[in-house]
Amino acid sequence: MKVAVLGAAGGIGQALSLLLKTQLPAGSELSLYDVAPVVPGVAVDLSHIPTDVKVQGFGKDDLTDALKGCDVVLIPAGVPRKPGMDRSDLFNINAGIVRNLVDAIADTCPEACIGIITNPVNTTVAIAAEALKKKGVYNKNKLFGVTTLDVIRAETFVAELKGLSPEAVHVPVIGGHSGTTILPLLSQVDGVQFTDEEVASLTTRIQNAGTEVVEAKAGGGSATLSMGQAAARFCLSLVDAMNGQNVVEYTYVETNSDDAEFFAHPVRLGPAGVEEILPYGELSAFEQKAKDDMLEGLRGDIKLGQDFVNG
Ligand SMILES: NC(=O)c1ccc[n+]([C@@H]2O[C@H](COP(=O)([O-])OP(=O)(O)OC[C@H]3O[C@@H](n4cnc5c(N)ncnc54)[C@H](O)[C@@H]3O)[C@@H](O)[C@H]2O)c1
Repeated sequence: MKVAVLGAAGGIGQALSLLLKTQLPAGSELSLYDVAPVVPGVAVDLSHIPTDVKVQGFGKDDLTDALKGCDVVLIPAGVPRKPGMDRSDLFNINAGIVRNLVDAIADTCPEACIGIITNPVNTTVAIAAEALKKKGVYNKNKLFGVTTLDVIRAETFVAELKGLSPEAVHVPVIGGHSGTTILPLLSQVDGVQFTDEEVASLTTRIQNAGTEVVEAKAGGGSATLSMGQAAARFCLSLVDAMNGQNVVEYTYVETNSDDAEFFAHPVRLGPAGVEEILPYGELSAFEQKAKDDMLEGLRGDIKLGQDFVNG
């Protein structure tokens, strides 16, 4: 299995690459690309870790070489938020970065599964889809917005509140990846009861968790380490599924539902990416209202991405 990380010298990119170097199956290859001149050094640094995963670094002008033969491409390239910024404030810079990288994927490894981490994910995934369509290689089963961070945050916060082991808690999170479009389904957490006040405050905390990190880092960026962990979990699940294991992850994909063109669902992954988009089940009245209230915003985020590519 060959995995590329585009934006590998950044905060997320380095954490993610470290986790993949230590956890990808033996015999895998890791291809690290970044426009920052430090990227060959990141690759050399990682290459000294004694695992059977081959690491290569590629600089600014070597994107095609970085992508040759890749099965999975993860994209955390772009600028992160500073305090006071919303994820949509990143659109102007990150939209063009994602478009260019996805064009190169379409030309070099059009069969690869693509995981978009760059924010605003609600919009950058739509940009990627339209860019792939323009190149005639779009496969909706192979394009994912990585929303795993919302899931791991939800699991951590629920475990904290209820005094449970985080590993034993599973929280579905559907919708998009910003503000109120992030919709944790607390009514579906097995064996745990919440009061109405707990549901309201936990939901808000999960939706604003990224801002908690941005403010705590005080201008030094957004979540990188927890995001590295989340992206590694997603990538390793995808690799397991491509190797024939039965895996379900929550991820933002193209759906045929009435909610929105892209929506995070539980997805059964398989050898060719999405095997089956599973229903997210019954919502509580609170969740149903939260979903109804956010759909227009999410659809607008998606349209912004589509218009960016189609003019
Ligand atoms: N999906 C999520 O849940 C989630 C969570 C946190 C952050 N993010 C997003 O991930 C992105 C990266 O965050 P970060 O903290 O790692 O930022 P960072 O600034 O630390 O790293 C970004 C890296 O991208 C590189 N880069 C910029 N343009 C590039 C290009 N054209 N090609 C290749 N590399 C390029 C930069 O050189 C840098 O090394 C941001 O957009 C951030 O908002 C997403």
